[in-house]
Amino acid sequence: MKIAIIGTGYVGLVSGVCLSDFGHNVVCVDKSATKIDQLNAGQVPIYEPGLEVLLAKNAAAGRLAFTTQVAVAGADAVFIAVGTPSRRGDGHADLTYVYAAAAEVAAALTGYAVMVTKSTVPVGTNRGVAEVIRKARPDADFDVASNPEFLREGAAIEDFMRPDRVVVGVETERAKEVMAQIYRPLFLRDFPIVYTGLESAELIKYAANAFLATKISFINEIAALCERVGADVKAVAKGIGLDGRIGAKFLHAGPGYGGSCFPKDTLALARIGQEHAVPQRITETVIAVNDSVKRRMIEKAIDLCGGGIAGSKVAVLGVTFKPNTDDMREAPSLTIVPALIGAGAKVHVVDPQGRREGEALLPGVTWEDDAYSAASDADLLIVLTEWNEFRALDLVRLAQAMKTPRMADFRNIYDRETALSAEFVAYDGVGR
Ligand SMILES: NC(=O)c1ccc[n+]([C@@H]2O[C@H](COP(=O)([O-])OP(=O)(O)OC[C@H]3O[C@@H](n4cnc5c(N)ncnc54)[C@H](O)[C@@H]3O)[C@@H](O)[C@H]2O)c1
Repeated sequence: MKIAIIGTGYVGLVSGVCLSDFGHNVVCVDKSATKIDQLNAGQVPIYEPGLEVLLAKNAAAGRLAFTTQVAVAGADAVFIAVGTPSRRGDGHADLTYVYAAAAEVAAALTGYAVMVTKSTVPVGTNRGVAEVIRKARPDADFDVASNPEFLREGAAIEDFMRPDRVVVGVETERAKEVMAQIYRPLFLRDFPIVYTGLESAELIKYAANAFLATKISFINEIAALCERVGADVKAVAKGIGLDGRIGAKFLHAGPGYGGSCFPKDTLALARIGQEHAVPQRITETVIAVNDSVKRRMIEKAIDLCGGGIAGSKVAVLGVTFKPNTDDMREAPSLTIVPALIGAGAKVHVVDPQGRREGEALLPGVTWEDDAYSAASDADLLIVLTEWNEFRALDLVRLAQAMKTPRMADFRNIYDRETALSAEFVAYDGVGR
């Protein structure tokens, strides 16, 4: 198959690289000339484990190209993988980029093609894309397909190559056949391909993300109760997670969910519900709980420092929204760190990949190269992102480097006993 992908960000790039690895001919398009220049030079503009090697392999095989031109002529399928951020003010998914991309593609279409929306979009958007194209090019021969993406940053290639399922919303046999050809390598290996209508496919993506966010907010609320009643949220999560109907994943208490998807997708689902007069009250509550969790973390940090943090030096380990990505979008650090600075703390941060994005987003912090230099002379150490390199630190060395060794372990990667026996004078986790 000949495939064009519009938008070469986290999703577009990973999809393009993986689809070319399936044997398809893929061209990845992006408006950013800097990004395309980098990719043409073999550099990967994002941090995603394994991506660089797979990209080089498929580019060398001549199956993968990058351009700023809307190179869709002759394509069997054109994937739209542009951003759909929250619209300022109302939380609705901003579809400006999706519709602009559709209009640009319409002008350049030749022959039959399936317009595939991979971006996460509200119900009705695929029909909107069809309308934009029909209006711009009444003669165009095309169908639309909704093919939401479920990959996780940090494990994106594995998720694309070994998905739990592929969801395809289509309305014609012709489009279904093209989509079946594209995903044939996965079908042959028995990965489930779920064919549905357009509306169901669009809603599956939001429902999936809202459900996962619900699990996180649920365990975070249980964590607060654990602290009050003397229970341990890790034990509670294990005890409920072993029930196959519940499942152990997404039951880690922490500083609240962040990232490029959950915050905007829960907001968008709540908005979709309101627009259709079917309020999504669970999702609305999940959003409110997540906001309060971040505030609770700020209070915890201040409490650990005796009720005031002005003039204290705080070392923050990890600022990306999760490990193994450089993505800073909606990371809890973007709420917690400015609040600490606002309360008068001097914040030193370290993150294996977060600095490039984070420098502009976290003004007023000092960037350090490793956890020990960040902790030097500090009054509080906060574990905010559980990168592997923070999981096995020499706690005695850290404590000795600090002025007052206190630890706020917001990812529960250590425990009180270990911290106190390593000379920390105070330790607080989440829900323990
Ligand atoms: N990031 C994730 O983990 C993830 C996972 C699943 C789904 N999604 C969804 O996928 C979509 C894309 O997310 P992302 O994180 O890859 O976004 P991103 O911001 O990383 O990438 C979007 C890219 O599209 C480009 N672009 C915008 N308009 C364009 C146009 N008209 N022509 C060419 N290029 C254009 C931008 O320059 C940018 O490089 C979103 O809807 C998101 O919700 C993201």
